[in-house]
This record gives sequence, structure tokens and C-alpha cells, in this order.
Amino acid sequence: MTTALMDGIARVVISEAEIARRVRELGREISADYRAGAAKDPRGRPLLVVGILKGAMPFMADLVRAMDIPLEYDFMAVSSYGNGTSPGEVRILKDLDCAIGRRDVLVVEDIVDTGHTLQHILAGLSARGPASLRVCTLLDKPHRREVEVPVDYVGFVLPENLFVVGYGLDYAEVYRNLPFVGVLKPEYIRDA
Ligand code: PRP
Repeated sequence: MTTALMDGIARVVISEAEIARRVRELGREISADYRAGAAKDPRGRPLLVVGILKGAMPFMADLVRAMDIPLEYDFMAVSSYGNGTSPGEVRILKDLDCAIGRRDVLVVEDIVDTGHTLQHILAGLSARGPASLRVCTLLDKPHRREVEVPVDYVGFVLPENLFVVGYGLDYAEVYRNLPFVGVLKPEYIRDA
């Protein structure tokens, strides 16, 4: 038996229209900042936007199209070990294709939760000597933070106890293709 994608959704938390509006705002704000001096590359190369797979893919695709400055993009994939309640270890599964020394880099995430993933990514990228390093996340759960991480651009702040799926965020790898952010019905969540 096949299950329809929407069957598991209890409610929409952030609609497709709200996401689209906020992504356009973020694109305009980020573009203006880099035009106004956030870019520090002494050679003036285009901003490098780095998407963190897999969750950031839909957000990143929309965000770069909402930006009107020259840019390049690349991707990293990381995996975190652990059971979801402990930080675990973060491992790089796919690294950047290009060098970032003295370049301007903007990391794009779908969500920052405990901060462990981003902390690990930023430490690794900082060590390569970028000219500037900023972070944009669609969703932020600041009350869940276990380590302090700098986040420059936030789409939406979520309450700490809300587990959301959609627009890149998964439950057991499913629901990433929903055009909105929503919550699952309890009966669709298996006990760990
Ligand atoms: C999610 C998300 C962040 C990380 C945030 O990735 O994309 O990278 O968790 O959690 P943290 O702040 O507690 O470290 P996930 O490991 O679920 O992989 P995915 O992007 O492939 O879904």
C-alpha cells in the first residue's frame, strides 16, 4: 500500500507563500550586504555559497535565485553520529570542490539546532583561511543550542519542542519535497 505524502502531516507551520516571501527578503538583504562591504576577498572573486546537504537543497536553490550579485555555489555533505539527543561526532562525507582561501563564503543550512554540525563545519572552513565566513539558515532553534555558533541570517525562529519536516527537512529521509514546513501526526513518528 502506498501512502500519500500529505497523510502524515498534522499542520502547516510555515506556508509556501511565507517561505517565498522570507527567502526573497533574505536574498535582497544578503545581496545588499555584500554589495555594501561584507565581501572581503582582496581579489574580488564572486561570493561562494556553500549548501550543506541534504537539508539545505530546496532553500539554497531558492535563495541563490533571490540574490542579484555574482556568486558561485558548491556543496558539502556531513553526517552526525549519535542518537539525536547526544551531540555525536560530525564527519565530512563530501567536501568542497574548490579552495576557499581568501574568498568570501556564505554557508547555507536548513536548520541550526544544537549547533554541533555548524560548529564543526565552520571550524573546518575557518582553518582554510577564507576572507569572510557568514552563515544563513532557514530555521533556527536558538533555545536548543549546546554550543555557540555565529548565525548571520535567519529565516524563521522555531520553538524548541517543535519537530518539523518539509522544504528540505526530513523524517527518516522522507518529506523533504514538501513545499512548506509542517509537523507530523504523532502516529507517523516511530518510537526510537
Ligand atoms: C540537520 C541540519 C543541520 C543539522 C542541525 O542535518 O541540516 O545540518 O541537522 O543540527 P545540529 O545543530 O543539532 O547539529 P541532518 O544531520 O539531519 O542531515 P540532512 O541535512 O541530510 O537531513
